[in-house]
Order: sequence, then structure tokens, then C-alpha cells
Amino acid sequence: MRKQIVAGNWKMNNDYVDSELLVSKLLEQHTHSQTEVIIAPPFTSLLSSSNSLKGSQITVAAQNMHYAENGAYTGEVSAAMLKGVGVQTVILGHSERRAYFGETDALLAKKVDAALQHNIRVIFCFGEELADRKSGNEEAIVEGQIKNALFHLPASAWEQIVLAYEPVWAIGTGETASPEQAQDMHNFIRQTIANKYSSGLAAEVSILYGGSVKPANAKEIFSKADVDGGLIGGAALDVTQFTAIINAF
Ligand code: 13P
Repeated sequence: MRKQIVAGNWKMNNDYVDSELLVSKLLEQHTHSQTEVIIAPPFTSLLSSSNSLKGSQITVAAQNMHYAENGAYTGEVSAAMLKGVGVQTVILGHSERRAYFGETDALLAKKVDAALQHNIRVIFCFGEELADRKSGNEEAIVEGQIKNALFHLPASAWEQIVLAYEPVWAIGTGETASPEQAQDMHNFIRQTIANKYSSGLAAEVSILYGGSVKPANAKEIFSKADVDGGLIGGAALDVTQFTAIINAF
């Protein structure tokens, strides 16, 4: 059975002190649940957050990493460095990385390979822009993003891949894809994976939705058959909202 997952992407928010506070409140409010919970703090809080969460059901993810093992890449962080501070998961391909840091499908394919070589699970993000949806190209865009970065992988590698469909027009805008739009796209994604690999493999892949998920809309979005959870931005910075979204399952 595929997993239900709620992951909080903190983006460039919360210094070390704020992170510790947020993690301790999260531990207070989080009750045992079937839903896997992940938080992705900035690099500077990964070690402290991972230490504070030891023994709990919550784990930490990084928001990015470099593909190289080490070397002259000023400002970058490698997979082994992440592993060393207790990171088991990395978010790759977020639309903000693609838009502001020029990350391409080809670069992301290398990052995915590096993460998997280090046994780090990947939450791979993709999604269309508003213009793509308006012109009816959303499926072609999403299919291309998945194919170009992930379809070189052998079937066995997919155990370590979680997908996150994040339509760019819904990120941080307060505008969410309707539950039906999310379901239609998630179903298309699962079909695309089934066509390349097998329906058995596609049925096991968790596909998260991201883009303005809030306590008020989480339940309806998560109730859709092919939506296995959420990647949460703004609402993950507020423990009450984040906990309500986790409990929406
Ligand atoms: P918001 O929930 O703030 O729209 O952000 C979504 C997101 O980008 C998660 O990665």
C-alpha cells in the first residue's frame, strides 16, 4: 500500500531558534497517526530539528542538494552531508528552484541519481504554470517534467520516489486547484507511470498535492482517490494549521 504523507516545506523561513520552537510545538500537538509527517527546514536547522525529533514519528527533509559528491561548488551541500545530519528525504525540483535558480530537468535527473545513490528518498516536485493550464497544455508539461527527470530510473528505484504535483499558479497564491483538478492530474500522473513501468508500480507511488493547502480545503483534496497527501508551504509554518492538515486524513 502506498503511504499517506504530509510534508511541510518551510522554504527560507525560521532561523535556528524559531525552528526549535516550531519543532517543540509540533511535538506537543502531534498525536500518533497513520499519516507520515515530514518537515523540511532550511539547511541551518536540519541537525537541530533532526535531533529534537529523534524518537518521534516525524522526520526531516532537506529542500535541495547538489549532485556532486564533494568539491569546488561554493555554497552547495551534498547528499552525504545531508545523511550526516540525519536527513532521510530531499525535496527536488521545486518550482522556486526551477524559476529562481535555473534548475532544469537534466540537472534534476542528476540530483535524483545522487540522492538515490545515498539512499535518500526524493520528493520530486513538478507542475504547470498558469499559461500552460490556460492553453490546455498542463498534462504535456507535467508528463515532460516527470519523463525527463525520472524515466531513466529502473523500476526498483521508485521505492524511494514520492511525487508532488504543485501547479505553479497555486503556490503561495491562495488559489488552490479544485479537488477535481487535483484528482484528474494525479490520475493522469499515475497512468503515465503505469504506461512506462507497470500498473502495480504506479499503484504504489505516493502522489502529493501542493499549492495553498489549508485546514479548510485539505480534507476535500485528500479525499480524492489518487491524492496521497500534501506538500504544504505557508500553512506548515503555523503548528495549529499544519496539525489540522495532518489530521484532515
Ligand atoms: P503554499 O502552501 O504556501 O502555497 O506552498 C506550497 C509549496 O510550494 C510547497 O512546496
